[in-house]
Order: sequence, then structure tokens, then C-alpha cells
Amino acid sequence: MKNIVCLISGRGSNLEAILAVQRSARWGERLGARVAAVVANRGDAPGLDIARRHGVDTAVVAHRDYPDRAQFDAALGVVIDRHEPALVVLAGFLRVLTPLLVERYQGRMINIHPSLLPAFGGLDTHRRALDEGVRVHGATVHYVSGALDAGPIIAQAALAVAPDDTEQALAARVLALEHVLLPRCIEWILQGRVRLEGGRVHSTGLGADQLLLRDA
Ligand code: GRF
Repeated sequence: MKNIVCLISGRGSNLEAILAVQRSARWGERLGARVAAVVANRGDAPGLDIARRHGVDTAVVAHRDYPDRAQFDAALGVVIDRHEPALVVLAGFLRVLTPLLVERYQGRMINIHPSLLPAFGGLDTHRRALDEGVRVHGATVHYVSGALDAGPIIAQAALAVAPDDTEQALAARVLALEHVLLPRCIEWILQGRVRLEGGRVHSTGLGADQLLLRDA
């Protein structure tokens, strides 16, 4: 079985979407893969309950318990490595990782970010998108590299920003796209249709329409 380890910090709606697709698309039988563990950096992350409800192993590595990022990352690495993951998914994980972990999981670690990168890395992406008046906004799944919210892009989801959009409305529409985009990218990687080579994303048999998801 190929193990997937998901890292979360909070709500866990992307995790829930992954677990729903794992079940409905029969990842176990079709891909020989499953979410083996969910690791949170906060003991009160609601997403931990989602994992437990699905019978997935959980662990907490609380960043507050460590004096610096390096020691937090070392502890996190030990917990992740227990599962010998084929893929590590940052599914709403709000900590910056040090090169130690980024290098260890190079080509095996992906992140979802709620903007069309390279625009709007960091926090408050929907408010900033509205403030800038952009007409197109969305979400990005990318391999994790050393820089924050950067790294080779696997796929994006895009939607039109309405003139009267509010931050909440926009966030909800982007989130609904995230829930489709992230499981899809995981599946492609597990199928070997997407991989990182020489710092670039290579995809096999995937058209532009699949790599760019559009709001209906
Ligand atoms: C999502 O918007 C994701 O793109 C970002 O953090 C949020 C996590 O939401 N990285 P959830 O915990 O998956 O509900």
C-alpha cells in the first residue's frame, strides 16, 4: 500500500474531501493507496475529528512545544517517516517548513494554496484579491519548494470574481474548487501521471482542461 500523510492545522475540509474521494474512487483497490495518517500542529484542530471519524491514524506535533522551527520540523519528520509516505499532502497546513523537511520530501510533498500563484502567496488571499480588483481568482496545487507558497505548479482552479463578491462568498467558491482540485492532483501523482523531474512538473496524458479546473 502507498501511504499518504496529510498535514493539517485547522478545519480540515480539504482533508474531508480527500477522504471522501478516497472512498468513492476506491483508491485502495484502484491505486493501492490510502491516507495512512493525519498530523496536526495543533491539538485542537477540528480536522483531527474528521480523521478519527474515518478511522485514520492521527498525531499531533504541536509547534508550541518546540523552541524553534528546526526542532519542530525534526519532530514532525520523525512522525511522518513512521508511515514511509509515498506522498505528503499539506491540506491546510499553516506552518512554514524548513529546508530539512522540504528537501527530504522533494517531489513527494504538495500544498494547496487559495490563490492563483504566483499571485497572493501568504494569508488573506481572498480579501487581497478583492482589494486588487482582480477579475480571476482561484487555487493552486504545487510541489513544495523552499520558498513560501511557491514551487512547481501542478494544477490550478480558476473562477471569475463578481463585481459584488464578498470575501466570504469568494472564499466559499474557491474552497469548493479546492475540494475537487486537490484529490484530483493526488490521484494523478499516485497514478504516475504527474511527477517532478529536474525541478519541473511533467504530466502524461493530461490536457489543459484537466490541469486548469474552471468554475461551472
Ligand atoms: C484552504 O483554503 C487551503 O487552501 C489553505 O488553507 C485552507 C484550509 O482549509 N492552505 P481546510 O482546513 O482544508 O478546511
